Amino acid sequence: METITLTIDGRKVKGETGQTVLEVALKNSIKIPYLCYHPKVSKTGACRVCIVRINGTILKASCVEPIAEGMTVVTEDEEIVKIRKFILELLLSDGDHNCLYCDANGDCEFQTLIQRYDIQEVKPSASRTPKEIDYESSNALKRNENRCILCGRCVKACREIQVSNVWSFTERGSETHLVADDGKRIGESSCVKCGTCAQLCPTGAITFQTVIGRGSNWELTSIPSICIYCGVGCKIDFYKNRDNILVKAMGNYTGPNEGHLCVKGRFGFDFVHSEKRLKKPLIKKNGVFVEAEWGEALNLVASRLREIKDKYGPDSIAALSSAKCTNEENYLLQKFIRSIIGTNNIDHCARL
Ligand code: FES
Repeated sequence: METITLTIDGRKVKGETGQTVLEVALKNSIKIPYLCYHPKVSKTGACRVCIVRINGTILKASCVEPIAEGMTVVTEDEEIVKIRKFILELLLSDGDHNCLYCDANGDCEFQTLIQRYDIQEVKPSASRTPKEIDYESSNALKRNENRCILCGRCVKACREIQVSNVWSFTERGSETHLVADDGKRIGESSCVKCGTCAQLCPTGAITFQTVIGRGSNWELTSIPSICIYCGVGCKIDFYKNRDNILVKAMGNYTGPNEGHLCVKGRFGFDFVHSEKRLKKPLIKKNGVFVEAEWGEALNLVASRLREIKDKYGPDSIAALSSAKCTNEENYLLQKFIRSIIGTNNIDHCARL
């Protein structure tokens, strides 16, 4: 890798061969606005919101412009602001972007830019045709195509991260729109509900069902955590509402999962508040489970294990451990099974 020195907004910064102007700027905390760019998917260069002035003359999309030795970059001037506003106004005019009833209100990259560039009322475009809203075909995702700005992040997330290829664009020009499979509603498509498209969506076009009606984005508090489902140890930022109820899970980009989650990590957290969660051990008496104290339950387990071992031998017993336990708990169980019971019949749910 060759080190390249360039100047962005008067600051000398360094990057490496193959990096783009936007990547180097972001790494140096220089803010260039963007919409179609996302660090986790390949570059599209579609929205042109990220335009910058290169070497004092030409305007280029910084997300796809490779850096060069001695390059000078201006990230904002009068003309750039004018063009960015024009692009944002065009996008705004082509959809239904009323934040008042949008699920992404308060957590929308498009809204942030609209406010940053002080865009006021925009007339709806003549070619705008209202699209169907898929409120509930999927219990994971809600889709409102009227809020889609055709950035393509969801298409790339589905193709490059989840490798499911559910989303794609169809038609041409002003008729271009997003389809799941060959035009199915999400719930009827081959979507596997990883939710990566919703996590990357910069507007309210694809949102999570779990949060709808359970709090506005600014009321949610994030809690960093680790997924309890398998051995990968994906990092998750859970979001709880004012009632301390978990309503959303977002993949954390610093974990081994690099922001990605599977359906279990993304949506399998409702058990946390389930009334059915065991709070006390249960013992079956006369064919019915009844609550018991820990002492009674543990004594029963110990005596039955001893009975079975004495009668049928240690290999008649097996233990299945759980990814929901800590490493220490799993270690102790295998130690107990091998040393105390005397069998190697021990396995773990993450291996199945
Ligand atoms: Fe660069 Fe969209 S972010 S063109």
